[in-house]
Amino acid sequence: MTADRARWSGNGTAGNRLFGAKNAEPAREEAEPADSGAARPSRGVGESLYARLREGLPSADPRAGVLEAVRERVHRLVISELGPVFYGSQFDQDELRARVERIVQAALRAEKTTMSALEAAGVARSVTDDVLGYGPIEPLLQDPSISEIMVNGPDRVYIERSGKILPTKVSFLDEAHLRHVTGRIVAEVGRHIDESSPMVDARLADGSRVNAVYPPLAVGGPFLTIRKFAAEPFSLDDLVGFATVTPQVAQLLQACVQGRANILVSGGASTGKTTMLNVLSSFIPSDERIVTIEDAKELQLRQRHILSLESRPPNTEGKGEVTIRDLLRNALRMRPDRIIIGECRSGEAFDMLQAMNTGHDGSLTTVHANSPRDALARVETMTLMAGFDLPVRAVREQISSALDLVVHLARLRDGTRRVTHVTEVGHMEGDTVLLQDVFVFDYRSGASSAHPAGPGRLVATGLRPRLTDRLADRGVQVNPAIFEPETGEVERPRPHQPPQRGWRP
Ligand SMILES: Nc1ncnc2c1ncn2[C@@H]1O[C@H](COP(=O)(O)OP(=O)(O)O)[C@@H](O)[C@H]1O
Ligand SMILES: [Mg+2]
Repeated sequence: MTADRARWSGNGTAGNRLFGAKNAEPAREEAEPADSGAARPSRGVGESLYARLREGLPSADPRAGVLEAVRERVHRLVISELGPVFYGSQFDQDELRARVERIVQAALRAEKTTMSALEAAGVARSVTDDVLGYGPIEPLLQDPSISEIMVNGPDRVYIERSGKILPTKVSFLDEAHLRHVTGRIVAEVGRHIDESSPMVDARLADGSRVNAVYPPLAVGGPFLTIRKFAAEPFSLDDLVGFATVTPQVAQLLQACVQGRANILVSGGASTGKTTMLNVLSSFIPSDERIVTIEDAKELQLRQRHILSLESRPPNTEGKGEVTIRDLLRNALRMRPDRIIIGECRSGEAFDMLQAMNTGHDGSLTTVHANSPRDALARVETMTLMAGFDLPVRAVREQISSALDLVVHLARLRDGTRRVTHVTEVGHMEGDTVLLQDVFVFDYRSGASSAHPAGPGRLVATGLRPRLTDRLADRGVQVNPAIFEPETGEVERPRPHQPPQRGWRP
């Protein structure tokens, strides 16, 4: 099984207006090797512009170049005629199409190039489709093997495929064209982007996440980042298949969730924290009442008794904000069996520790951090952000008694996402919280027939977590053999490779 199996939306999710609307057709962009240099030199418009459309034309046709020039002129005119206010909610799709068609026809009438009726109709259709669709990124949206699309400017479009970031040859006509497409995408969810509100972060109807930033905030932009929604979330078996966890670790994690351990998932940006949280949550017994709290709903749980809460940013007058912390406080009054917080970023950490220490065990959350130790430091800082004047030692005591396990993830150079630490949170010793690694990623461990996913893999340290006694009290058994370090292995020495921090170069 591979990470890039067809699972991204774009393969025609029902009811998905944005990505499922057209025939799924594999992207025609040609990914270049990632190390071929970041920014490609800007190419002439004639070469870059309708590359996508041109590919559909027979190359020997001498008219192709002429028609392409006409298309380009008409397209530019249409975009400038439409203006930025056009894609408001006041227009429905038919009205929009009629209006675009009118402008296209007018532009064609003004054209000096002589064309047959058939040629003119062809130009009209392709311009209309482009203006009403998502332009040059449409094939990327449709391509199920692409998980993320990153537009860094009209001429710089990157994709993520199988965990690797690759530049593409896709480009927009110019900045206005990119603004047009960006405006259309955010307008789909009733949001608006312009000079006065130049940043938008939105969840599309199909669950995909879109972030857009306009210049001058986005230097050389607009920037547009689309994380496509995974139509079917990964399962624990998938994560074992990707070598993110070993079967032993998978067993331990499953037992910890069933036995109501409080688990903190940590890692850098896009290392797979939310995915891991989703997988862990799937082991919560279906007779429990689960409340999830997120900034934008990403978790996809299968259990039936789920209440999902989503925070709200302040409106344009700066009012009406509802924070994760507000929601968490409210959630405690909803008689939850489990509380899942999508990501801890601030003062909610304080309330979360309180909750974990007062009977809401089995709670799960994620935090942005570079190591398990760093994760605890972050929780400590965030707890202090709650605004109570607590002595640091008191906070650490809370942390030590609330948290049971830290599962740390990293994205390696080869693009794979791996659990690098499974660490038990122990008691206080002096002023520090003891951390015991139960499994760690060994970067020097070579690939062998038993571990084809190498080099580097997650190995047992030989320590049996104390947590297992508590799990046993709750009737959840863990096979002690999984904690035994493997022996008799032929190891190929490898240079030490530290995990990448974050993921963007
Ligand atoms: N173990 C994994 N193996 C391969 N891809 C993964 C894995 N976990 C997550 N992904 C993919 O990586 C991207 C980021 O995952 P996500 O869980 O949202 O990260 P985070 O919450 O850390 O930002 C998504 O496209 C997701 O499908
Ligand atoms: Mg996340």
